[in-house]
Amino acid sequence: MNEHPEKLDLTSLDIAAGQREKLRQLFPEVITEGGKVDFDRLKATLGEVVDTGKERYGMNWPGKSECFRTIQAPSRATLRPCREESVNFDTAENLIIEGDNLEALKLLQKGYLGKVKMIYIDPPYNTGNEFIYPDNYSESLDTYLSYTGQVDAGGRKFSTNTETDGRFHSKWMNMMYPRLFLARNLLREDGVIFISIDDHEVDNLRKLCNEVFGEDQFLAQVIVQSNKRGQTYKEIAKTHEYLLIYTKTESIDLHELEKDADALPFADSKGGFDLWELRNRNPKFGRFNRPNLFFPIYVDPKSTDECGYARVSLKQTVGMVEVLPLNSEGVESCWRWGKEKIQGSDLTSSSPVLISRQRRDGKWNIYEKSRKATTKAKSIWSDNEVISEQGTIELGALGLTEAFDHPKPKGLVKRCIHIASKENDIVLDFFGGSGTTAQAVLELNKEDGGNRKFILVQLPEPTGREDYKTIADITKERVRRVIQKISRGEEEGLTRRREDAKGEKQLELDAELLIPDLTAQKPDSKPLRGFAPSREPGFKVFKLDTSNFKTWDGVRPESPEAVVQQLELHVDHVLAGRAQEDILTELLLKSGFPLCTQVERMEFSREGAKDAKFYYSVEEGAMLICLEKDLTAQMVKELADKKPSRVICLDAGFQGSDQLKTNAVQTMKARGVLKFQTV
Ligand SMILES: C[S@@+](CC[C@H](N)C(=O)[O-])C[C@H]1O[C@@H](n2cnc3c(N)ncnc32)[C@H](O)[C@@H]1O
Repeated sequence: MNEHPEKLDLTSLDIAAGQREKLRQLFPEVITEGGKVDFDRLKATLGEVVDTGKERYGMNWPGKSECFRTIQAPSRATLRPCREESVNFDTAENLIIEGDNLEALKLLQKGYLGKVKMIYIDPPYNTGNEFIYPDNYSESLDTYLSYTGQVDAGGRKFSTNTETDGRFHSKWMNMMYPRLFLARNLLREDGVIFISIDDHEVDNLRKLCNEVFGEDQFLAQVIVQSNKRGQTYKEIAKTHEYLLIYTKTESIDLHELEKDADALPFADSKGGFDLWELRNRNPKFGRFNRPNLFFPIYVDPKSTDECGYARVSLKQTVGMVEVLPLNSEGVESCWRWGKEKIQGSDLTSSSPVLISRQRRDGKWNIYEKSRKATTKAKSIWSDNEVISEQGTIELGALGLTEAFDHPKPKGLVKRCIHIASKENDIVLDFFGGSGTTAQAVLELNKEDGGNRKFILVQLPEPTGREDYKTIADITKERVRRVIQKISRGEEEGLTRRREDAKGEKQLELDAELLIPDLTAQKPDSKPLRGFAPSREPGFKVFKLDTSNFKTWDGVRPESPEAVVQQLELHVDHVLAGRAQEDILTELLLKSGFPLCTQVERMEFSREGAKDAKFYYSVEEGAMLICLEKDLTAQMVKELADKKPSRVICLDAGFQGSDQLKTNAVQTMKARGVLKFQTV
């Protein structure tokens, strides 16, 4: 520790530094003393694989190199909590972030790096009718502020991306690439991303994803039936769209989908079962590469029961028939199970696990009786639950008819979440729209007792409506209504299923939905005490805004007056009108803590002082934050005595006293505080 406390870095994660660090860990020899990369050494290390030719396979488009600058430009923005628009703010672990998702993804990098289990997004499809957010890497927060009308727009125009624009596709790719890159960082090693898309950009999106996630991480391009009649006037009516699925690494653990109970075709005393051939039918495997899985199994024809099933064994006794894993042409394949697994399984009870049945040609097949009522997700989804119009019906069922065009059906998103997440995982959707993903998470939790958390990001895109002025308002309102419904336990009561004339299941809407306005709740005026997690559903709203701290803008003042002006600006460098909770949130975010971190407000011992003074204890004292503006040596000692790993104070708290600061550094050091920072 120096004489002076370190300054807390108020920018988002330095992405380029992160990439260099990964390189350093893999190839420490290529990093020079100054922390730069020695490309010649890197080439030498990699040897033959370096492609030095000018022509190589890859994707390029106008603006691609700017994408990297967009990714690397740090965000100086913050997220400001908005209690009055939240539900159960103090205990909620779900987040709705109102703002541009590029800035939001950057701000989430420190606290959520590698923590998100699955991402579902439904980005604009680039049909020519949607507005595509204009990123400008050097001033993306300014773009956002002028977009939301918070600063002088300076004539900036926000319009839809049209086909006549010469850069129609590249504009869309320039918007998607940085977001996908930052999203990948947030995924856990076993994380999965699902992206809805249609014919307009599916080709480009696959190539973008191949670049960001790697071609080997491609899992599927699921065809999702979007409607039954077809939607274009071209010769072939379009009835489907796609769901691209990519993983972050190879280490994934996906869940199967539940089969209908009546989907199991056979039954015995133990219940329903299916028969799965024990021979491995995949031609990639056989005696040639799995010799240990090639051995005889013996069938006892005398044991054949009235259903035609005979017992099997690994031991041969008199009258038994030898069966080898051969295909119909007699080619040697192999079994799916090894000898040990067969020996350890039940072959002799009244319902044995392996049985045999005779084929028409007199030969015997060996089968496993599978009681698994689950099946792998298939690459075509065409059931009613995923058809697009279902999304509109579901929004209507919440009393939000016509509030949002083309919401996704919750069944589609639930299926993705079911496949790729477990009970406590974080689910992210940074093109939140009407909030379908939030509803899917809340309902799945209700159904299976899970505690998944969602993070939604949605731009306050104007709707032109009086009741919900922006799409973000619709997102919040929908989630409030879903929570209301779940809390009331009226999930089933609000909607009723009926069979229509064609036998298709449809949702029938209740005529009147009397759902009270949750925004009418009084904002919690109690002092902040913490974010203790609870199972009561809720969400915290955060809004993207400029940092609470005035920072040097990096421009060297040209005149002595300008120097004085800049210095004055920083005497109290917290923006006017910002609450302690705003500052606290920014400090958590920029110190790498998730937004739901438990924080407790603690009082300093008074020792005769008239006014109460407070500090905040983060994660049970791991970090202490003091936002008081008149620190004393006694207060510093009290903080240090708690032996936290980190302490953050306001620079202004030292009131210009260098001595107090230097002593504070010494006190912290003496008590073993690892990091003492100021802002
Ligand atoms: C196709 S909609 C998503 C619909 C959503 N899946 C649903 O079921 O309601 C895409 C959404 O992304 C939002 N969006 C577009 N650009 C954005 C940006 N830069 N940041 C945040 N949201 C954005 C749009 O306002 C729109 O609501």
